[in-house]
Amino acid sequence: MEIKLTINGDSKKFEVDPSTRLIDLLRSAGYQGVKKGCDEGHCGSCTVLLDGQPILSCIKFAAQADGAEITTIEGMGTVNDPHPLQQSFVDKGAVQCGFCIPGMILSSKSLLETHPDPTEDEIKRGLDGNYCRCTGYVKQIEAVQSAAQKMRGGI
Ligand code: FES
Ligand code: FES
Repeated sequence: MEIKLTINGDSKKFEVDPSTRLIDLLRSAGYQGVKKGCDEGHCGSCTVLLDGQPILSCIKFAAQADGAEITTIEGMGTVNDPHPLQQSFVDKGAVQCGFCIPGMILSSKSLLETHPDPTEDEIKRGLDGNYCRCTGYVKQIEAVQSAAQKMRGGI
């Protein structure tokens, strides 16, 4: 079957099998920032935004996303022009191996759109589906707070 997706602002068509998962479609199309961790809906590494909402692409069929706008980490920023969230994660030392970070940043982006000045508890709730095996989470909460302040024009 043919499906249409808008990925990071680019309109694309794909021929997919009904059983093709969104994670596999995206990774095979070159969006390798969509990380495959547990591969069964537990860790959050595969998080992408579907029409602005974080979803787990390993438990979503590509066909279910037909017509949607998808945002992956490749759509957030570049090395030379990072999104404030990406810069804050680096500045606060919130990145170690980095495997969880694309999903964390996308979940954080979604959170900040509805909570531009989030409390610590709101950040914890916003990131509670994104597991990190390295950092202990404190620095990531600080990174989201710092990015939120920058995005509000506070610094
Ligand atoms: S890879 Fe999808 S939730 Fe772990
Ligand atoms: S930085 Fe390694 S899993 Fe989060």
